[in-house]
Amino acid sequence: MNIIMATSLSKIYEHPQSSVSVFSNLNLNIPQGKSLAITGESGRGKTTLLYLLSGLEQASAGEVLIQGQDIQALSEEKLAHFRATYFGFVFQHHFLLNDLNALDNTLLPLRITKSLTKTTLEETKELFEYLKMGHRMNHRPDELSGGEKQRLAIIRALVHKPLVIFADEPTGFLDKENALNIEDLLFDIIKKQNATLILSTHNQKFAQKCDLQYTIDDLEVQ
Ligand SMILES: Nc1ncnc2c1ncn2[C@@H]1O[C@H](COP(=O)(O)OP(=O)(O)OP(=O)(O)O)[C@@H](O)[C@H]1O
Ligand SMILES: [Mg+2]
Repeated sequence: MNIIMATSLSKIYEHPQSSVSVFSNLNLNIPQGKSLAITGESGRGKTTLLYLLSGLEQASAGEVLIQGQDIQALSEEKLAHFRATYFGFVFQHHFLLNDLNALDNTLLPLRITKSLTKTTLEETKELFEYLKMGHRMNHRPDELSGGEKQRLAIIRALVHKPLVIFADEPTGFLDKENALNIEDLLFDIIKKQNATLILSTHNQKFAQKCDLQYTIDDLEVQ
């Protein structure tokens, strides 16, 4: 079964003085439980595509169905609920909250979905240990290194066991050992939870480890 079906997707960023056409007529079907790597040169639209597939940006044309649901037809409120429940995000910009310590940042998705329990708290702490972040749980994000913030963002994306994990360059800032750890963790999680992983990466080796690869090569700049 395809969990995500994107048909004839186009995206044009419209601004008063200029508009940027990122891609047009893009079609993508992603089966549940599989991993997909989106590749393509910088500026080709990888982040944009992740935003469209997850409903963070509206497409200029085309349709995105998730479990048969047309996400662009949902109201803002329903879409926000849908995203919080079913999706986990690792953004290129992490959007971590500096007023909260690392642990509390990662507990947010559990609080929003009302699934913070003793068990899910323990599971979250296990993820911190797995990613060698146990000693940083009480630190605020601005006290962490770039790679530590990245790992924190990854923990936050996984705690509520999302159906689909969107990860924009999840190993971008990391050294080889930590990058391989994240790759293992992501593949492990989707196997255990039958989740779907959609990631963007410049790392060809990582891309090749995914079940499917999609390269955006149809750049049109106007
Ligand atoms: N809000 C925006 N308004 C106008 N243009 C935008 C906006 N966001 C992105 N773009 C343009 O859309 C194109 C695709 O950007 P995007 O961030 O999706 O690329 P990318 O493939 O993720 O690049 P990178 O590998 O550098 O992260 C770029 O030319 C970018 O300048
Ligand atoms: Mg990007």
